[in-house]
Amino acid sequence: MIIAVDGPAASGKGTLARRLAAHFGYAYLDTGKIYRAVGYRVLEAGGDPEDPDAALAAAHALQPDDLENPELTSDRAAVAASKVAAMESVRAVLLGFQQGFAADPPDGAPGAVLDGRDIGTVVCPEAPSKLFVTADVEERAKRRHKELLDKGEPSIYSRVLQALKDRDARDSNRSAAPLVAAPDAIVIDTTAMDPDEAFASALDSIR
Ligand code: DC
Repeated sequence: MIIAVDGPAASGKGTLARRLAAHFGYAYLDTGKIYRAVGYRVLEAGGDPEDPDAALAAAHALQPDDLENPELTSDRAAVAASKVAAMESVRAVLLGFQQGFAADPPDGAPGAVLDGRDIGTVVCPEAPSKLFVTADVEERAKRRHKELLDKGEPSIYSRVLQALKDRDARDSNRSAAPLVAAPDAIVIDTTAMDPDEAFASALDSIR
């Protein structure tokens, strides 16, 4: 069993995907983390995430430990991720790992939940269950802003909103595996839902 969960940044897809994986006892893969790790590797090396050679070299050099870096949750890493993710060559290097995880989940798990932007369209187009989780950009910005403040980090709402709009545009307008709902995905709009309601709606769709 494979559950594909796609959607824009801060839509609640990660929380939902993690909860679905725990509920069904499936393995969970946050594919955004992989792109973040590639982007962060480029930044660490003093390179430009928009430089195709630097991005491709970082994708090839990626190590499992890179995914454990707490810096990956930063906005710097998110922006770098979105830039390296626009390159077809980078995506091609990372595709096999994601498909292998879905086909043969670790620890003998009977299924996998993957979240990202192109799981239902490119990574696992055969997934029997596809969700596209979205929410209005203002609501997503509010959530992200609150999350930062709760963590004690400085945050300015208007900047968070603009950063999300920029990332949405980059992720949606690229030619390589753009952010789009698969034709057979069930769309869950979480604008007016709390995490419990989103989970209940997802379970309904999957069943
Ligand atoms: O889900 P996230 O915010 O951690 O993702 C960070 C960036 O990585 C996102 O802006 C676009 C890219 N990404 C992608 O292109 N494809 C995926 N399957 C997952 C993430």
